[in-house]
Amino acid sequence: MISPTMQAALNAQINLEQYSAQLYLAMSAHCDALSFKGFANWLRVQAVEETAHAMKLIDFLLDRNGRLELSAIGAPPTEFGGVIQVFEQTLAHEKGITAKINGLFEQARAEQDYASEITLQWYVTEQVEEEANVGQIVDHLRAVGDQGGGIWYLDSKMGKRAAK
Ligand SMILES: [Fe+2]
Ligand SMILES: [Fe+2]
Repeated sequence: MISPTMQAALNAQINLEQYSAQLYLAMSAHCDALSFKGFANWLRVQAVEETAHAMKLIDFLLDRNGRLELSAIGAPPTEFGGVIQVFEQTLAHEKGITAKINGLFEQARAEQDYASEITLQWYVTEQVEEEANVGQIVDHLRAVGDQGGGIWYLDSKMGKRAAK
């Protein structure tokens, strides 16, 4: 049986992963409106991944006989600025998520909840990958700038990301 405090923390993280999906879907629509179909595609795939992160935590919670307590998912912004700003905001968001995951990991350790610790290990690794991927996109976008041909080349590259 999972502790009430760990259950509450996992339920909060599930909501946050769902909010991430919501945020990336809004960013995807924003890029689509700017005619950047490739960036829109990348963000939509990202949204699906975030939903998968929530599902994985839900399965873990249920396997531990925990109670799933879903709460309202916050509304994301509708305005994000140019593509560079979109990905700067993505990077900032992922850094915030990393801090949350690290906090959960610490809590699992403090409670000697080994099963949660092992499950959360996957998320720690995933966040390293997320920050590296998004960081690289931000670097590339800053290098080519918001104008000119370079950004369209990046857009076509981003269009190739397929769902796992
Ligand atoms: Fe996530
Ligand atoms: Fe993420």
